Amino acid sequence: MSAPTDEGDAQSLERVPSALSTREAWLDPFDWYAEMREDHPVRYDDHRECWDVFRYDDVDRILDDPETFSSDPRLASTIDLPPEDEQSPIMETMLLTDGDRHDRLRGVVEDWFRPRAIAGRAARFEEIAADLLDDAVEGGRMDVIDDFAYPFPVIVIAELLGVPSEDRPQFRRWSETLVETPTDTSEAATEAYQERQQEASEELAEYFEEKLDARAREPRDDLITVIAEAASEDRLTHEEALGFCMLLLVAGNITTTNLIGNAMRCLTAHPTALERVRDGSVSIESAVEEVLRYRSPVQALARIATEPVELRGTEIEAGDVVVPWLGAANRDGDVFADPGEFRIDRAPNPHFGFGRGTHYCLGAPLARMEARIGLNALFERAADIERRGETLQPVRSAFIYGVEEFPIEFRPR
Ligand code: HEM
Repeated sequence: MSAPTDEGDAQSLERVPSALSTREAWLDPFDWYAEMREDHPVRYDDHRECWDVFRYDDVDRILDDPETFSSDPRLASTIDLPPEDEQSPIMETMLLTDGDRHDRLRGVVEDWFRPRAIAGRAARFEEIAADLLDDAVEGGRMDVIDDFAYPFPVIVIAELLGVPSEDRPQFRRWSETLVETPTDTSEAATEAYQERQQEASEELAEYFEEKLDARAREPRDDLITVIAEAASEDRLTHEEALGFCMLLLVAGNITTTNLIGNAMRCLTAHPTALERVRDGSVSIESAVEEVLRYRSPVQALARIATEPVELRGTEIEAGDVVVPWLGAANRDGDVFADPGEFRIDRAPNPHFGFGRGTHYCLGAPLARMEARIGLNALFERAADIERRGETLQPVRSAFIYGVEEFPIEFRPR
């Protein structure tokens, strides 16, 4: 089947496939993924106007070939973007760019995010986790998301960037709006949603505009200074510098929140695994890798075919949007033994939780460290952890995967 090429308003990553549009289905999409891997490993969704790809080796091929499968949405024939001068600076970031420009952008901050550089900040991160948890664990009940998994990575990224962490209610509103997926697809609701996105993006840009100016005048030891310096030396345009700050803030909080939340969802559902992590018989690092595979915080990515290409016998045309499902590939039985089992000591574990190839997550060392420090700090203060409540609410996004709230009870230690 070939993809329609006429201009439309399809936003493939803004809508979930119809099979996943209920709360229950999006909370546990894995049976549907298994069906798709088996029967329709590469299929066209007329409603979302994109290809969906579910098997591990196909996802691997796409992520490994950015020349054929680009990250630049401007190349898509079915995505209707606003005129260039109205586009968000997020469009000017490494995430949505390829080739030399991508490497130039990524090079500006790469050193900051290397494991050794990040490891040097562990003591400060432990302090932040301790401060949050000392308050939250009193009384033996907490909401993992609101009380800990949300504020922790936001405070960390705010400190790295060099913005006041007290502004975090605003960061949350902006970030959530930017990754939100509209459930109501009526024209009025879509328009309102686009307006909200535009507004959030403008406010965020204005916020960082001020900070970049301030750092250009008065440098400090933070990421905004690194970005402002690159802009003043013409290594970044003004739009690129703004987009940079916005990307790091958004990428740095929503995803790690969901990694910690999903880890608690997995571990409370598997008490033996939780016990083995607590008593040290399996490392927390290994358990976190399995969470990244089993309930990946990012379930899907998007790429645009730059030329006609054949994938598993199917013709894909230049300009078509292709969605590699990381969450489905991560449960492919051709690569992972008993893929539906949560095995905290799985080794090797070549999951796609942080993507693969040139766009491999820049923040992976930071996210891994935050998860380790955060979960350790929680286990030090809370024994006999159990989930409270019956109903879970998924995060409202077609590619970010997690829950809005996760209440637990425990014995404070
Ligand atoms: C890219 C996942 C945390 C910054 C990515 C990609 C994935 C991902 C799947 C690949 C996107 C693509 O190929 O199109 C995650 C997960 C996280 C996490 C699951 C937490 C558990 C972070 C953090 C930061 C960050 C803490 C930074 C503060 C980025 C950036 C990119 C990226 C800048 C773009 C890299 C590029 O285009 O070269 N992330 N991420 N991420 N991530 Fe993360």
